[in-house]
Amino acid sequence: MRLKDKTAIITGGANGIGLEAAKRFANEGANVAIVDYNVEAGLQAEQESQENGQKIKFFQVDVANRESVDLMVKEVMGHFDSIDILINNAGITRDKTLRKMTVEDFQKVIDVNLTGVFHCTQAVIPYMLEKEKGKIINTSSIAGVGGNIGQSNYSAAKAGVIGLTKTWAKELGKKGINVNAVAPGFIETEMIKTIPDMLMMQIKMITSSPRLGKPSDIANAYLFLASDESDFINGHVLNVDGGMMK
Ligand code: NAI
Repeated sequence: MRLKDKTAIITGGANGIGLEAAKRFANEGANVAIVDYNVEAGLQAEQESQENGQKIKFFQVDVANRESVDLMVKEVMGHFDSIDILINNAGITRDKTLRKMTVEDFQKVIDVNLTGVFHCTQAVIPYMLEKEKGKIINTSSIAGVGGNIGQSNYSAAKAGVIGLTKTWAKELGKKGINVNAVAPGFIETEMIKTIPDMLMMQIKMITSSPRLGKPSDIANAYLFLASDESDFINGHVLNVDGGMMK
């Protein structure tokens, strides 16, 4: 039980990597708030988890909207009375090459993937500062580390997430709060379903482990960074990409 009696908020927890992490955390003894835009998937995840005896509760949120985030944090506190871990995992893509990308495509991805991380973190830290303990894990991407064709918006947001991680580690580390990031490679979820087969083949070929990542590969990294085992790690960006970014 590596997270016994801890409460974790996982943004984007209704699907993909976030949902896998929610189940993993609950199995390690955590109370988990899956907070997501998608009500149908969120309620379904909550129901399934309760049937399995896990303490997972769904709260609706739009991470890009500050009022919605503040309300969600209040609701989570009302229900669990504690917030020990925040996983800033919610994310979207609107891929187009620079020539074709609209300002709206650019702004939307920044609003969710970067400003959303700012909103959620700023809303939870008062509760962590009170306890002088907390774990914040931000989800970046290999696109944020090395850039990617067709992802000006996404790469900029995910590189920005690395900047936030390093800044907050410096600001909050002395107050007992660890802030780290995970940079996933290509992980088998809805998000990568639009990538053409040919490109997928090439991706597998440039990965040292010749396969795509699984949501559990990222959930394991989140778990380590959320647990006491990583207390002396702060401001780190952990690539979980099968050796793609060497
Ligand atoms: P996914 O599309 O399966 O899940 C994303 C979740 O975020 C969905 O449940 C969605 O409803 C939620 N969401 C979207 N906008 C939201 C908003 N405004 N407010 C609240 N929730 C919102 O995606 P996946 O693959 O599980 O991605 C999780 C994280 O990992 C994202 O930050 C993504 O950028 C990152 N990532 C994923 C990679 C992949 O290959 N799948 C690679 C690198 C990073």
